Amino acid sequence: MVVPITVTRTGVELAFTSLNSEVEIDNLPVEGEIPHWLHGCLYRNGSAKFDIGRVSYNHWFDGLAMVHRYAFHKGRVAYRNRFLRTSPYIQMMSTGQLSSGFETVQPTSLANRILRMTLDAIGYRTGQTYNTNVSFMHLDGKFLALTEQPVPTIFDPISLETQGAFYFSDRLFGHLSCGHPQYDYQNQEYINYLTCFGPINTYNLYRIKATSDRRELIARIPVRDPCYMHSFALTENFIILVEFPLIIKSMKAILSGKAPMHCLSWEPQRGTNFLVIDKRTGKQVVRFTSKAFFAFHHINAYEQGDEILIDIAASDRPDLMYKSYLNLLRNATRSEDHPLAEYRRYHLPLHKPVHSSDVDYELLSDRKIEMVCINHARCSSRHYRYAYAVSHNRDWPTLVGQLLKIDVHNRNTKGWFDPNTYPGEPIFVAAPNAKDEDDGAILSVVLDAVRQRSFLLVLDASSFKELGRAYLPHHIPLEFHGLFANADPEI
Ligand code: CO
Repeated sequence: MVVPITVTRTGVELAFTSLNSEVEIDNLPVEGEIPHWLHGCLYRNGSAKFDIGRVSYNHWFDGLAMVHRYAFHKGRVAYRNRFLRTSPYIQMMSTGQLSSGFETVQPTSLANRILRMTLDAIGYRTGQTYNTNVSFMHLDGKFLALTEQPVPTIFDPISLETQGAFYFSDRLFGHLSCGHPQYDYQNQEYINYLTCFGPINTYNLYRIKATSDRRELIARIPVRDPCYMHSFALTENFIILVEFPLIIKSMKAILSGKAPMHCLSWEPQRGTNFLVIDKRTGKQVVRFTSKAFFAFHHINAYEQGDEILIDIAASDRPDLMYKSYLNLLRNATRSEDHPLAEYRRYHLPLHKPVHSSDVDYELLSDRKIEMVCINHARCSSRHYRYAYAVSHNRDWPTLVGQLLKIDVHNRNTKGWFDPNTYPGEPIFVAAPNAKDEDDGAILSVVLDAVRQRSFLLVLDASSFKELGRAYLPHHIPLEFHGLFANADPEI
């Protein structure tokens, strides 16, 4: 008798293995129960294709963008996934070659590089799209996929078909964008910024109504050495750019033709700057410096008395970026191989003079965390109590092994853990007529290393107990970010 040998990949390997199939499923098999009140669509974005033939990207951030849509209706979940047909995707599928990304570069002439950067920076309609695999934004009636280049990709929210490049109708310049625009619930508009290189480098802060395609400049902040910032903080009255000393060597980026990641320089002796800008006037009101640290993600920020509190997933160094090479991640065995961040609260005293130093922080949790979400609609830029995050599990130390609910009032923590699974970013969805901040559900896409498939997990946000899970027919590589839209799911 011949016993078939099944070659199964380890969970960490599977978490960074290409997913090539695109499917449409009307009704995913559910274990447990999906709440009937959950109505709308969860969209997820992330790297899904790392190789073609014998060539492969080196870095997790460079995988080609795939959009997933989970539509909820009366306890049922429909699922669909599509690669975005961006210029890098089309090039890869038609030529079998990788295209330039964050860590990858294809040789081009200096003239071509400058031309492409300039045309994109001014919003010239070349029709070229980027590998927008980071996050989403709902703007001007369109669903946009974002990365850190200034041109988002439009996709159809139902079919997930790619509809091309999105261009703003204004004349704001910028060579780099930020993949985490902040929604200002108070003024019902987005706030974001562009980094612009030139004889004088600037951060160009802007606001844009969700119903518009026209940005309005808030401030143009000159900066000698622009820094790599993946997100920023927003309070009732202020925008705070936290400048980690990961310097973008802009001339090197333009002249050398090296990949963006290789044009970043970690210079901790500079410390980390907090630039506090008045949201209404655009004036920089104060600037603080602290001991150097790095973060990808802000958690929340708000004003309290004469202080600004900035909660941030912070690390002493940008290790996560440098350890996110695919060959390292696929062979991860210890929590240090996928370093997570500390939950820090920085206190900025507004009564101190301009150019203060010695900003300090407190730890809000003793756990290492990443991909933190809160009840944004209720608590963004305001006092809040609960945060939800991925974390390492002490018994399951590789990659992200559990989800946490952290109560920052009394510092209690609840966890969800299932052996041999790797959960992704939690997303909070408020229940209808919610009374408490944590009345709702937590959604997370989890990779099951035993079944070699992923499932959509639904937790009760209050008790943090599992309500149900819906299995997919395939695995999904570890993703970046998502968005829950209350739109009619049209299952
Ligand atoms: Co991010």
